[in-house]
Amino acid sequence: MTKIGVLTGGGDAPGLNAAIRAVVRRASMLGWEVLGIRRGWAGVLEMDVEPLTVNSVAGILPRGGTILGTSRTNPFKNEESAEKAIAKLKEMKLDALVAIGGEDTLGAANKLWKRGIPVVGIPKTIDNDLDATDDTIGFDTAINIVMEAIDRLHTTAESHNRVIVVEVMGRHAGWVAVEAGIAGGADIILIPEEKYDIDQVAETLKKRHARGRNFSIVVVAEGAEEIEPKKKEAVDEFGHVRLGGVGEKLAAELQKRTGFETRVTVLGHTQRGGSPTARDRLIATRYGVGAVELIRNKKFGRMVAMQGGKMVDVPLEAGVGKLKLVDKEFYDVAKVFFG
Ligand code: F6P
Repeated sequence: MTKIGVLTGGGDAPGLNAAIRAVVRRASMLGWEVLGIRRGWAGVLEMDVEPLTVNSVAGILPRGGTILGTSRTNPFKNEESAEKAIAKLKEMKLDALVAIGGEDTLGAANKLWKRGIPVVGIPKTIDNDLDATDDTIGFDTAINIVMEAIDRLHTTAESHNRVIVVEVMGRHAGWVAVEAGIAGGADIILIPEEKYDIDQVAETLKKRHARGRNFSIVVVAEGAEEIEPKKKEAVDEFGHVRLGGVGEKLAAELQKRTGFETRVTVLGHTQRGGSPTARDRLIATRYGVGAVELIRNKKFGRMVAMQGGKMVDVPLEAGVGKLKLVDKEFYDVAKVFFG
């Protein structure tokens, strides 16, 4: 009897349960056994597992989060841990492992594959920054949550004649900011891919207000940076930059430069919570079934991916080798609506 394992690692994302369900449903159809590994790679190291059956995954399709739990454990943090992970996976007597995750989780999966563990991957991250795939599980839900938040912030910003800075996730890539920002009609969108000039942002807002629009919505990705910070960051006694997100700093600087009353909303983990959209459920379902097909065809060391609307598979290496960043052409589309 074929026995496969499945785990979810890294930040949770809406649609993970849909993927787990699809893996279990397709594997069960083939008469295979499925072992759920709890809390990502931590569950491998600690042998924290539970059998998954068609019945145990019933009803989880619309549920956010992951029934398996997740963690940011890196099994390759040192050689001892890597050897332990490999030994534990062998002890589980798995014919294959499905790793559902982003860059870190799939990066570890790739290293395990290189050391002889039969692994396949499913791309997940609300950041949508994995190369070699158009879609990652969770992104569509995240941008819909952010779009709705921007819609709601419009009415309160307008009523009070305020500038509202909305800080969204995205440390390295600005996909959430750009796509949700365009969809929500943001007046400025700042992303990690292009450093911003605070004076220019303030000028754009002043011009917008001068033409009679007396409120503004500024979307900023958490990883966005200023071209040349005009003054040094405040540091504590140990030299660490004082905590406080980019949104807070930006809001304070904008209020100072424009004189417009400014507020900040940090959407934070709301962006990863709750029920997945139809699109995320569909992508996750296709990926889950596709991952089992990869195992059936012994195509290990690969991950399922979407390219141009078609499901394909690519080497794990290709998915995790480099980040997919927002390209200039796309950001230029967003800029048409600045101000
Ligand atoms: O990678 C997904 C993500 O949500 C990023 O957008 C964000 O920077 C990070 O995770 C937050 O991490 P944590 O869940 O550890 O707070």
